[in-house]
Amino acid sequence: MKTLKIASLLLSGSLLFAYCSTPSGSEPKVYSGEQAQTLKNKGSEAALKAQQRLLKTVKGAMAEKGVAGALSYCNLEALGLKAKLGEEMGVEIARRSARYRNPKDAPENEFEEQLLAAYEQAQKEGKDLNSQIFESETHYIYYQPISIPNAACLKCHGKPGQDIADADVQKLAELYPEDKAQNYKLGDFRGAWRIQWAKNLQE
Ligand code: HEC
Repeated sequence: MKTLKIASLLLSGSLLFAYCSTPSGSEPKVYSGEQAQTLKNKGSEAALKAQQRLLKTVKGAMAEKGVAGALSYCNLEALGLKAKLGEEMGVEIARRSARYRNPKDAPENEFEEQLLAAYEQAQKEGKDLNSQIFESETHYIYYQPISIPNAACLKCHGKPGQDIADADVQKLAELYPEDKAQNYKLGDFRGAWRIQWAKNLQE
């Protein structure tokens, strides 16, 4: 029986997760030390940079090559973004989504499944979604929710045949046979940035 449990509760507008770690102690738990704000700042700086560079790359590719030509650019590996930025900032950058397009972005464990489900639920209830900082024995792990901010995203993540052109629906089916990342609407919870780094890198 797993003891892993994430309860989400709302306290003055912020989403909190209580987490009981398993006996092995290897799963992340909410970081409750004094450095919380500093750690969150580090995570959010990396997420912001990744997001800005990703958007610029996708926008540029869409303008130059159209939607179908840009399909391989909403991707952290595009143009070495993940490696470059990760090295620059000393962090590992990833995205996680329960309704993912690329299976490598699926939740990696039950902890992430529950975290994403709690965010999704909070979004449905119209609550604010906040970033969270966790720690494992070896790493700090920062999660920052991603929502669908504008209609440009819907050209590839919206309703097939309506937001997503038929030709692009077909291309997506070829590239991503397991695609779950369609039928999103503006404002929907889409997933989360996950920024993690080794604790011994933090002064
Ligand atoms: C040109 C098409 C296109 C546009 C525009 C686009 N995406 Fe994507 N998106 C994709 C593709 C293709 C993937 C899968 C990338 C991969 O293989 O890693 C993806 C993956 C993602 C992921 C990672 C999780 C997953 O499903 O694999 C997130 C989060 C995401 N997109 C959010 C957005 C948001 C938010 C916007 C608007 C700001 C946006 N996308 C705009 C095509 C697009």
